[in-house]
Amino acid sequence: MTRRLVIAVDGPAAAGKGTLAKRLAAALDLPYLDTGLLYRATGRRMIDAGLDPEHAPAETFAATVGLEDLRRTDLRVPEVDRAASLVAAQPAVRRALVDLQRRFAGVHGAVLDGRDIGTVIFPDASVKLFITASPRTRAERRWEQLATDPGVPDREEQISRVEREIVARDAADSSRSVAPLRVAPDAVRIETDSLSADEVLAEALRIVARMTR
Ligand code: DC
Repeated sequence: MTRRLVIAVDGPAAAGKGTLAKRLAAALDLPYLDTGLLYRATGRRMIDAGLDPEHAPAETFAATVGLEDLRRTDLRVPEVDRAASLVAAQPAVRRALVDLQRRFAGVHGAVLDGRDIGTVIFPDASVKLFITASPRTRAERRWEQLATDPGVPDREEQISRVEREIVARDAADSSRSVAPLRVAPDAVRIETDSLSADEVLAEALRIVARMTR
């Protein structure tokens, strides 16, 4: 019988965890879940219903979110960034999404990325990775993803603005009372500042091999 392999990939925004988790899942032939999309889909549904994600009860929306909602193409827009972060701070919303995440790993396992996978959702995950990079590196990467014209004269200014937003979001994510972003004691950190996506994947595969033999 093959062993169930659950791999938790946590870390702050734009550190490269999505890219890594997706490639790791493909390399290991495991299903992949981007758990941020669950919070985004919850926020999206509230916006669609004309409700304020900060005040209206979000857990009833979270409770009916299913994997089919995650295929929506309108989940990565600024109003949903904000709504997702507001609903993610609500304990009842987080509770409503626990079962779906645990069931996703099924009998064979999965790779899941998020903020609390190794600390709350799968405290007994086979492997826990914590992916980080400096705010400057993350701002550059985020900016390059969003930039329509990489040659714009105010590139520096724009990157500095993204960096300030990233620092503010880190502070909010780390200091919130429910499931704050923190490194599980048994997580292995990968600093991605000076690594390419291929190098991050290679390092993660070495860690998985070492921890599962
Ligand atoms: O990773 P992301 O930007 O798609 O996440 C969207 C929001 O959900 C963000 O505010 C962080 C939050 N989130 C969370 O609290 N827990 C997770 N496991 C994943 C995301």
